[in-house]
Amino acid sequence: MSLELAPCNQPSLIIIQKELHIFAPATIANVSCGFDVLGLCLETIGDEMIVRKSVQKGIHIVKIEGQDLPLETEKNVAGVAGLALLAALPEEIEHGFEIEIIKGIKAGSGIGSSAASSAGTVVAMNHLLGQPFNPMQLIQFAMEGEKLASGTAHADNVAPAIMGGFTLVRSTHPLDVVALPAPDQLVATVIHPQIEVKTADARAVLKQSISFKKAISQWGNLGALVSGLYTEDYNLIGRSLNDEIVEPLRSILIPGFDNLKQAAMSQGALGCGISGSGPSVYALSKGSTTAKGVAEAFTEAYSSYDIPFEVYVSPINPQGVKICS
Ligand code: HSE
Repeated sequence: MSLELAPCNQPSLIIIQKELHIFAPATIANVSCGFDVLGLCLETIGDEMIVRKSVQKGIHIVKIEGQDLPLETEKNVAGVAGLALLAALPEEIEHGFEIEIIKGIKAGSGIGSSAASSAGTVVAMNHLLGQPFNPMQLIQFAMEGEKLASGTAHADNVAPAIMGGFTLVRSTHPLDVVALPAPDQLVATVIHPQIEVKTADARAVLKQSISFKKAISQWGNLGALVSGLYTEDYNLIGRSLNDEIVEPLRSILIPGFDNLKQAAMSQGALGCGISGSGPSVYALSKGSTTAKGVAEAFTEAYSSYDIPFEVYVSPINPQGVKICS
């Protein structure tokens, strides 16, 4: 299933915008070998948001559809990200912002639900304010939403949601995010088993130290994956999509993970792993025919489990948050 949206074009430069309708995309963080540093942006899965200037100052979440999430500004990731942006303005502004969120991404799905709301909010507010902030600053504001959601201000979902494509977070202190190329034929397939795995819980199962051997294998894979993205070497990308550190610990939280991975690989996927902190599982394929085959294999593999699920196929979104009108 994918969310049907009106085409997103750039708003007219002549009209002074008071309201923006945006598409805030889902993202796949970690991408197997890049725990907490690598992420990619999806094209067909995401939230819709309306952000408008309001007479009332501050940030007000006026409507949330599709999910039971708090409207209170300080308890909502969009609210917290928006407040971080307001606090960074050189002087107080004479208006505030109202936010409506139509969730297409379920909370706790592992495809960047909180990141979409945080990223969408700060990108829209920045547009409505005449673009005072650069993408790195916007990522920093959106990370406040991630901190609220999971206790950790990780950037591997908000960076691709804001910048599009693949991103690599070289450092969070100071924030340094590198945009990586996304080869044209790379297509993602995602299965979301409808159980909730909280990011904080999925982080709690991790070990605080790893063996030297595993570290060597992981940075070998990460370096090779980056090279594969630049050279469009799909085989190298496939060989690099391994995670020896986090996947073995987290996959036990996802019923049927091994079967899903086997199903994807038998259809010719380049690689398959946990999307973000799970429970979603992603595969990357060369071309949409293989990606659709993986979607069918995921569906077949999971139909014997007593867990509802959704399957998505999506190209890589090169743009990130999109302004629809
Ligand atoms: N890198 C984070 C984690 C992403 O895996 O915990 C959470 O979506």
